[in-house]
Amino acid sequence: MTRRAQISPSILSADFARLSDELARLDGAADWAHVDVMDNHFVPNLTLGLPIVAAILATSDVPVDCHLMIEDPDRWAPAYAEAGAGSVTFHVEAAAAPVRLARALRKEGARAGMALKPATPVEPYVDLLPELDMLLLMTVEPGFGGQAFLDVVLPKIRRARKAIGDLDVWLQVDGGVSDETIERCAEAGADVFVAGSAVYGKDDPAEAVRALRAKAAPLVGPA
Ligand code: DX5
Ligand code: ZN
Repeated sequence: MTRRAQISPSILSADFARLSDELARLDGAADWAHVDVMDNHFVPNLTLGLPIVAAILATSDVPVDCHLMIEDPDRWAPAYAEAGAGSVTFHVEAAAAPVRLARALRKEGARAGMALKPATPVEPYVDLLPELDMLLLMTVEPGFGGQAFLDVVLPKIRRARKAIGDLDVWLQVDGGVSDETIERCAEAGADVFVAGSAVYGKDDPAEAVRALRAKAAPLVGPA
């Protein structure tokens, strides 16, 4: 199966008062806009919810990659798909019925993603992979941008890549991904790269996206 490197800049590091300008600054270079929804329960931070995601969808053509760091995603996640997010990712640690939820997301027309925190093993979930379009392996503890990349997750990325095998499931990494660390992730088997501070911390976010892609792409080969 042909795999390609995709870059999903996290707007968590953008200026929340000027989101539509911040999305425009990506200048078509990004595959997705990664939107971090945090509820101050699943993670100790509060960001934004459905009304702002809907506003982003209305203002920008960049497909939206929603990362829901919330309790009870079974209840709340399908509305993000219904609103038009191209990809909706819930945390398995918070989901009561991940298979049912993934099916509900797909039914609403979104790609279904499932996220694992750094200490959550992938092995118990391998049989769920055919129900998913993307597996997100967090490479920091979720909750905040600008944290240091956790190398300890790299073996799990390798095991996940092996488990995915020929399935058409993207493998996303999120947290501390930068021009210093993206090659390690790609080499281990990731193919979708979230980057917040490494994109919006730079003067030219579009250029930062292109530079990240140039580093990852040669390492994201056929499975
Ligand atoms: C953290 C979020 C990330 C965050 C990444 O919980 O899920 O998407 O924005 O930020 P950086 O790339 O700065 O680590
Ligand atoms: Zn995220």
